[in-house]
Amino acid sequence: MPDTISFARGAPSLDIIDVDGLKEAAARAFTNDPGGTTAYGTSIGYVPLRAWIAERHSVDPSQVLVTNGSMQADAFLFDHFVSDGDAVVVERPTYDRTLLSLRGRGADVRMVELEHDGIDTSGLAQLLGDGLKPTLAHIIPNFQNPAGYTLSREKRDSLLDLAREHDFVIFEDDPYVDIRFRGESLPRMLELDEDGGNVVYACSFSKTVCPGIRVGYLVGQADLIGRIVKRATSTYISPSMVSQSIVNEFCRSGAIETSIATVREALRERADALAAALERELPDARFVAPDGGYFLWVDLPEAIDVDELHVAAAERGVQFVKGSDFMLDGGEHSLRLAYSGVTVEQIEEGVRRLAAATGALV
Ligand SMILES: Cc1ncc(COP(=O)(O)O)c(C=O)c1O
Repeated sequence: MPDTISFARGAPSLDIIDVDGLKEAAARAFTNDPGGTTAYGTSIGYVPLRAWIAERHSVDPSQVLVTNGSMQADAFLFDHFVSDGDAVVVERPTYDRTLLSLRGRGADVRMVELEHDGIDTSGLAQLLGDGLKPTLAHIIPNFQNPAGYTLSREKRDSLLDLAREHDFVIFEDDPYVDIRFRGESLPRMLELDEDGGNVVYACSFSKTVCPGIRVGYLVGQADLIGRIVKRATSTYISPSMVSQSIVNEFCRSGAIETSIATVREALRERADALAAALERELPDARFVAPDGGYFLWVDLPEAIDVDELHVAAAERGVQFVKGSDFMLDGGEHSLRLAYSGVTVEQIEEGVRRLAAATGALV
């Protein structure tokens, strides 16, 4: 059995993490602020990092809550907005952990088709017109997990109009925004929401610094953030000050910009290699080459059942996540390939193995 090549994990490879920069940031954190770095701190997060994030988003620090990874931010937000039976709109497909979190809270999860330029806003308008009253719509606007697609500017405006008209909150879950390696950035819905109150925004340092640091954050209206802070206090007193103090030093020294440039360049190369390998080895596969992020979504001919392919691929030493894991139903002929943790050589070999596994099924 050859070494397994994993397209399954949405995580970066070690070579694109600035380990030396992190070591230096850690040394500075303990030297420059030993008290703040080692204390419990406050539930809103490490104050200087909160200030840095607020400045980046041109908002008041009272609008920011820094958490242990954005997953924790998601959990606080879902706890706040979602009670048993509440309708919540998500994209189809969507991040599998979002589906699990919402179902675990008893939400009435309504999946709305994800198109190449983002969620089908006409389909959503139809559902709302038919009487659906969601408390929240969870949207991953940039380089969506799992599909890699990006929400167009027009659809950002339409979603905001729908949120205002039908009185729901858009949860803009945006961990991949900085990993754009092609094309123009689009404005955040958080910024487009001029009156405020219809968007809560989450982001993360997992893709720009490293996932093990577990630092993410929420931006929203100050009163909402204030209410969520109370949940944070009762959950963990405070998030990890050590991690946040290190991230603060990493950001303020400018190391984060270098790190983002490294990640973008590597992922552009990997995404291009993956697209080229798929075209060469699996000509029947349909996909959209991503402009950023970690993921590429592949639709295969209906003759290929993804459960069977998963087994045949594992036998040949290649892993991916089945499309069906990202939906309540369907996805049987689709798969998600993560190119963030594999080298160009592994991508080429991995796609050869995937093609062999596909060939064995037809
Ligand atoms: C859409 C989305 N939201 C949230 C997360 C969680 O990120 P974090 O590592 O900040 O908890 C991920 C991680 O893959 C993600 O893809």
